[in-house]
Amino acid sequence: MEVGAELSRLDDILRETVMAIKDSQQQISSIAEDARCEAARLSRELEKVRGEALAIIDKVDAARQEEQRSRLYLMQVSRDFRHYDEEEIRLAYGYARDIQVRLIVLTEKEKDLRSKRDELERSLRNVTRLLSRADALSTQVGVALDYLSGNLEQLSRTIGTVQEKREVAIRIIKAQEDERRRVARDLHDGLAQQLAGAILGLEVAQKLLEDNSQRAKRELISVEQIIRSGLRETREVIFNLRPLSLDNLGLQAAVGKLISQIQERTDARILLSVHGEEREIDSTTLSCLFRIIQEALNNVIKHANATEIKVRLEFSSEFLAVQVIDNGCGFDLPPEGAWTADDEHLGLVGMRERAELIGATLKIDSRPGLGTRVFLHLSQVMGTEGVD
Ligand SMILES: Nc1ncnc2c1ncn2[C@@H]1O[C@H](COP(=O)(O)OP(=O)(O)OP(=O)(O)O)[C@@H](O)[C@H]1O
Ligand SMILES: [Mg+2]
Repeated sequence: MEVGAELSRLDDILRETVMAIKDSQQQISSIAEDARCEAARLSRELEKVRGEALAIIDKVDAARQEEQRSRLYLMQVSRDFRHYDEEEIRLAYGYARDIQVRLIVLTEKEKDLRSKRDELERSLRNVTRLLSRADALSTQVGVALDYLSGNLEQLSRTIGTVQEKREVAIRIIKAQEDERRRVARDLHDGLAQQLAGAILGLEVAQKLLEDNSQRAKRELISVEQIIRSGLRETREVIFNLRPLSLDNLGLQAAVGKLISQIQERTDARILLSVHGEEREIDSTTLSCLFRIIQEALNNVIKHANATEIKVRLEFSSEFLAVQVIDNGCGFDLPPEGAWTADDEHLGLVGMRERAELIGATLKIDSRPGLGTRVFLHLSQVMGTEGVD
């Protein structure tokens, strides 16, 4: 299985895990909510029972004192029965018994309320413990969820990057193949033909040398011309592979040379204007900038049918700006974000990718009949350095 598919499977697993944990978190929240309601109910009930227990304790205290008093009175009546008649003694007994019964009832009630209170306190403690555990668990699950969701985003980003990198790698390989094919074609059509022609010319000259030295000389002159033109073409091929002037002389010189090379192949007037002082630019940035300008110019020559092309380079301490403007036929640009390379059209996408690579902004303005403007803006901090 390829990395992209594996990562995507991992992404699915993580997504399912996150959903399962979210579900658990909801269940925990609902348990916590129930426990909170139960705790509130128990607290109210406990408050009530505590109040009732206090009231009963007061009543039991009062009844106990009264019972003591009734017992003392009964003792006094029974000891001193000459001063009290039978009715009074009977009443004292009855009173003491009633009080005793009341005390027993109240004490029972007090016992009941006390045990009810203890029971409620125990339940409340349990529910509170459950509640705090549910809250802690919910927090922990929340943290885990945040962590996993973060990882999920990270994973999605990784998947995106892996896929993007693959696509970029494929495009780079394809671009290399295209470049090799182009070099092979250039060498085949140019230098190889010219060398073949030169050999033929030399053979003819050799044969003519003794009999007709004048014709041999003319033949040799034409061989020289062929070789000169071959040399020029070889230099062009080398320049297109990697302009030496780019590293040695910088962007302005390389673009100047590119323009004079293109000028030989077109009737359109190409004007180069340079503003500010060129500063040292690192090699990758330099070649990306050059390739973007080269593709913009190639596009003008290939498609625009322009009569005038303006190339403007602006160097400043804060930025570097490039403009390639033509007055040709223009074209309908694909909407933003819909630039895709197909087998035939790699140029615009390549320009955009190179701009992204060096952190530059690329903007293309074009409309049928109104020419095309290519703007490239590179902030000096990104990839370029001052020489001072
Ligand atoms: N300056 C321009 N003027 C008019 N049309 C243009 C210009 N630049 C680009 N185009 C149009 O945009 C299309 C896409 O350009 P792009 O550079 O991506 O591909 P291409 O030039 O056709 O092929 P490739 O660059 O891969 O050799 C071109 O085919 C052309 O129709
Ligand atoms: Mg192109």
